[in-house]
Amino acid sequence: MLEPRGAHRSTIVYRPVLPSDLEVLEQIHVALFPIRYEKEFFLNVVRGNGIVSWAAVDISHSDSHNGKLVGFVTTRLILAKESEITDLLRFSASKKDITLVYILTLGVVEHYRNHGIATSLVREVIKYASSITHCRAVYLHVISYNLPAIKFYEKMSFKLMRRLQRFYYINGQHYDSYLFVYYVNDGHSPCSPLNIVAAVATYFRDLFKMLVSKLWRNEERHIPRWPKCKETNSLLITQNKRIVVTENSASQCV
Ligand SMILES: CC(C)(COP(=O)(O)OP(=O)(O)OC[C@H]1O[C@@H](n2cnc3c(N)ncnc32)[C@H](O)[C@@H]1OP(=O)(O)O)[C@@H](O)C(=O)NCCC(=O)NCCS
Repeated sequence: MLEPRGAHRSTIVYRPVLPSDLEVLEQIHVALFPIRYEKEFFLNVVRGNGIVSWAAVDISHSDSHNGKLVGFVTTRLILAKESEITDLLRFSASKKDITLVYILTLGVVEHYRNHGIATSLVREVIKYASSITHCRAVYLHVISYNLPAIKFYEKMSFKLMRRLQRFYYINGQHYDSYLFVYYVNDGHSPCSPLNIVAAVATYFRDLFKMLVSKLWRNEERHIPRWPKCKETNSLLITQNKRIVVTENSASQCV
């Protein structure tokens, strides 16, 4: 049981979304989002049909023992290879069962905001994703003008990976979206700083090995020094190119 911070005297508990939440869940979605969701979506949420969700309920002022729904997060487990972010993940082609958790919707009723409820809901999602061995990340899209949500995900240490032009089409207008990713279970992006460091380390290790072996062979064969340098140079360019590609990918996806 969790006490939200701030002036509220409410007692908020977190539990799965239940069939009894159907009506309120739908009402809150209509109130909070510019996108209209089909009835089937809500039915799938409350029945847990392919959707895993959590509810934040206020049990302090409610007659119902299930409490009053004041927040929710809905997610779907998807195969990484079928997602749009395969390029943001490092996994071998042999690992076909790598999964991701996609956040479909997250919302907190206005009166209950800024009391850490969304934080607790998203922590549940991260805990769930981390508990799935083959899961590598939690990700989502946020419409580009939704500053509270953008700040929220940044505060939760999600990485802003890219801006998708004209991703949403709402009421006859296009809007960009931001793609946020939170890596779990040692999942990481191929363009993470760690990968760049690893690539540089590998480059220097290979260069060193190559120089040593060349030197060794030249000593034996008495080959003049300059062709050796030429070869080293060409390798340098190739290797540098590879690193530059990694750096470029980083600037593209952030
Ligand atoms: C975004 C939303 C879910 C946040 O819910 P919440 O319960 O108020 O969030 P929390 O209290 O856990 O906030 C945690 C952090 O998010 C950020 N944040 C939340 N609301 C913010 C706001 N209005 N402005 C700026 N930052 C905000 C802050 O960094 C905050 O940390 P702080 O309290 O230490 O400053 C809520 O505003 C909401 O339901 N919005 C409408 C629906 C929506 O936009 N959903 C997200 C679409 S993906």
